[in-house]
Amino acid sequence: MSIRDSIRVCRDYNEMSRMAAEVFADYIKNNPHGILGLATGSSPEGLYACLVEKYNKGELDFSGITSFNLDEYYPIEPDNDQSYRYFMNHHLFDHVNINKGNTFVPDGTAADPDAFCRAYDEQIKAAGGIGLQLLGVGQNGHIGFNEPADELIGGTHLTELTESTIKANSRFFASADDVPRHAITMGIDNIMSAAGVVLVVSGKNKHGALMALLDAPEDPHVPVTLLRRHKNLMVFCDEDAYNG
Ligand code: F6R
Repeated sequence: MSIRDSIRVCRDYNEMSRMAAEVFADYIKNNPHGILGLATGSSPEGLYACLVEKYNKGELDFSGITSFNLDEYYPIEPDNDQSYRYFMNHHLFDHVNINKGNTFVPDGTAADPDAFCRAYDEQIKAAGGIGLQLLGVGQNGHIGFNEPADELIGGTHLTELTESTIKANSRFFASADDVPRHAITMGIDNIMSAAGVVLVVSGKNKHGALMALLDAPEDPHVPVTLLRRHKNLMVFCDEDAYNG
């Protein structure tokens, strides 16, 4: 199967969000004790809104679901409104009947981040592995916070954000100086081990990253290209991302 068979080009952000949310809704219905891998950022906001809408209509039950988030800034307090824990509570967890004790987001306050990362990988393994992983992609091709590098790290790890990511994410902060310089992120093996992967890509500024996934050789300097090897990858993009 070619990567082109995995991609669904949607009219706009809203259609992309609805279509990708259907995949998550089906997964949750078919796997009431399923394990979700979740992402933050502007790409999945619409998808989470669709899931909340479905929950409010009585179509979804999150009570048995467990989730592991891809990443979190480091250091950051969970109640900081820029933290990914805050984002997840605000966009999804506070609005559905998920047991918050079963929602895991890397700990931006961990005193020993390396020990935390090893424990996070163990927790994912002990839960049975990720059933369906949601991803966005950075303009530089990062997935999670696996930034372009000569070699990508397999497991969860502490990483330094690139200047381009700090600049892109500064739109959420008062200034670029306020963006944390580090993050804890799942590694490439964590992502590739998920049984299914849903990538959502929206906007003209993601065109380059999307085209690299479709056409460029696999290259750790454009981490998203490694997804091409995944056996169950679904890509939902909008026309802006596809056509540039
Ligand atoms: C967020 C994450 C990042 C984002 C990427 C795109 O949890 O892992 O890789 O998916 O930076 O961010 P947005 O969607 O804000 O353009």
